[in-house]
Amino acid sequence: MASLRSKSFSPPVRDDRSPVRISVSGLGKSYGAQGVLHDISLEVKPGEIFVIMGPSGSGKSVLLRHIAGLELPSAGTVAINGQDPSLPDTRDRFALALVFQSGALFNSLSVYENLALYPLEHRLCPKPEIRERVMRALRILSIENAVHKLPAELSGGMKKRVAIARALVMEPQVILYDEPTSELDPVMAATIAEIIATLKEQFSVTSVVVSHDRDLAFAIADRIAVLHQGRLLTVQTPAELRENRDPIIREFLQPSINLQEPRFKKLEANHD
Ligand SMILES: Nc1ncnc2c1ncn2[C@@H]1O[C@H](COP(=O)(O)OP(=O)(O)O)[C@@H](O)[C@H]1O
Ligand SMILES: [Mg+2]
Repeated sequence: MASLRSKSFSPPVRDDRSPVRISVSGLGKSYGAQGVLHDISLEVKPGEIFVIMGPSGSGKSVLLRHIAGLELPSAGTVAINGQDPSLPDTRDRFALALVFQSGALFNSLSVYENLALYPLEHRLCPKPEIRERVMRALRILSIENAVHKLPAELSGGMKKRVAIARALVMEPQVILYDEPTSELDPVMAATIAEIIATLKEQFSVTSVVVSHDRDLAFAIADRIAVLHQGRLLTVQTPAELRENRDPIIREFLQPSINLQEPRFKKLEANHD
């Protein structure tokens, strides 16, 4: 297996590079009286690309934040190789990386500084190796020429690539992506899809991708979970999902535009 890890430095806490399995069991989440996730159970297999799809507001990002250990369940459990992801120790051990929808880059820092910040602050490895890792990540994503730029100087597609590069610097065993192709044109979206698939092949990372981009999901997923109103409707391979006749799933995958019976209420006639 190819690895981003340099031979010269190997922090003991991250020695274990066995494949990573994610288990979600009976997960429920409420904010006050509002139930957002209901009894979700799923397994992400080691090294697979697992895509979570569903309409806006169905709970995809909330589910991803639970897998990242950034939120605590109201019911049920999440485990990464049997360990609780909300413990900093677990996140460190598997170098779990989250690529935020917005990119979440620091605007006043250059691309280089954005990538080096976390490893420097957490002393992941000696300084010269951090530089090596940053430059390697930028090379992998073909954005070395952006190294001295500020986020404001980058296009949307470049920002997404920088956000992925920042995850790679961590040498992650798990990468979680929230809407990696949102707001991108189709060509840049296809490039990001290729990058996600390539990272899986080269580095055997376990990838969870939240998206409502059907093209992305069907192109890269090993399996697709469909969420609807906080409930898991199904987990299937792309081929199986294409044949799924559940009306809610069909409506989501191939919404019909019906001008005779529109989904929104009839507009008030304007009598000016
Ligand atoms: N921190 C929060 N506090 C209260 N409600 C939230 C919070 N985060 C998400 N929600 C609600 O949970 C629901 C699911 O949100 P989200 O997971 O972001 O949906 P999406 O599938 O579009 O990613 C939405 O109704 C949202 O308003
Ligand atoms: Mg979301």
